[in-house]
Amino acid sequence: MNRVLLSILALFISICAFPQKFDNLGKTPQMGWNSWNAFGTKIDEKLVKDMADAFVTLGLKDAGYEYILLDDGWMDMQRDAQGNFVPNPEKFPNGIKELADYVHSKGLKFGLYSCVGDKTCAGYPGSRGHEFQDALKFAEWGVDYLKYDWCYAGQMNAKEAYTTMRDALYAAKHPVYFSICEWGDNQPWEWAKEVGHSWRTTGDINNCFNGSKDRYGVMQILNLRDQEKLRKVAGPGHWNDMDMMEIGNGGLTHFEEETHFALWAILNSPLILGNDLRTISKETLEIVKNKDIIAVSQDSLGIQGFKYKTIQDNIEIWVKPLANNEWAVCFFNCSDNPAELNFDWNGQTIKDSIYNLEISFSDKFVYKMRNLYTHKETGKTNKVLKSKLEKNQSLVLRLYK
Ligand code: GLA
Repeated sequence: MNRVLLSILALFISICAFPQKFDNLGKTPQMGWNSWNAFGTKIDEKLVKDMADAFVTLGLKDAGYEYILLDDGWMDMQRDAQGNFVPNPEKFPNGIKELADYVHSKGLKFGLYSCVGDKTCAGYPGSRGHEFQDALKFAEWGVDYLKYDWCYAGQMNAKEAYTTMRDALYAAKHPVYFSICEWGDNQPWEWAKEVGHSWRTTGDINNCFNGSKDRYGVMQILNLRDQEKLRKVAGPGHWNDMDMMEIGNGGLTHFEEETHFALWAILNSPLILGNDLRTISKETLEIVKNKDIIAVSQDSLGIQGFKYKTIQDNIEIWVKPLANNEWAVCFFNCSDNPAELNFDWNGQTIKDSIYNLEISFSDKFVYKMRNLYTHKETGKTNKVLKSKLEKNQSLVLRLYK
């Protein structure tokens, strides 16, 4: 029996009686950068190293971004004679381990992509039938994060397929954040909590705010699923993933980028950048480094926000309960026209019936407000809130005593 077969056999034997996902990962939604949205399969070692460098020099690491993630296209078209994954030698001449070491040397974490089927979505080899072997390879390379896609799955049962890879990762004994990318086709919110640390809820995002039924933009991702149903199952270590962000890719206005970021934070979606950090504008960098919005995403309670109501026909109010009885409130003008926001807090009660929390406003219950874009205190809830909101602009506040 050759060495590879022997080590796979040993792995099977060493799987403990209770395989599980790795604990203590993703206690707050993961933050990082992924290659797919901006680069597709045109990725290489230099690009990844540049992004890791940019995390440090742009202050993204200090802002909380941690994972550098390679998506589809890192592998060669064929496995080697032993069936091992081989990185594409032109794109990654020094291999994956050297690259992961580089990322680690910056104090960051490194992730890879594979797929449930025998091919990835872009046609490269997938992990079907090689799960335990691949998990060992990932451990050898020091991979900290695996995005696991759903192409060429045929008749496979999603829960079983993802559980196989979860068990393989666990058996390989190197902690891996397991990111399920199944697009919500098999209701992962009903079964994935024990399997992975996050799961995609929809098909792919595109570089636009208002897409269409076949080409999702920010609005489609936000509204496609019943967020009320999904939020019940999200929490520390298991998040609904609304896909990588399109901020900085040129398809959104400044206000749309702000709103995209704020809504991903309020809904506890992973904050995964998907743009070219070498050319990021000052304005976009400010949006993705906004400490006040990041604090909403990374709040220790880990409660996914929800839509409180729609007012004045086109202003949606999204809220999120935060630790210490504070709340984030986002007024989002989702129409094509500017709107004059006029909101009287008095007499309003926002209830979160799932987590049994509420906040109400009256002469007796007055909250201070911090504007999370200007980072300034902006009055109290005893006055009518007035603001002009341009098309797709949002105003995000933190309410506190
Ligand atoms: C699927 C995923 C995307 C990306 C591509 C890569 O479409 O949903 O996020 O990983 O595959 O081929």
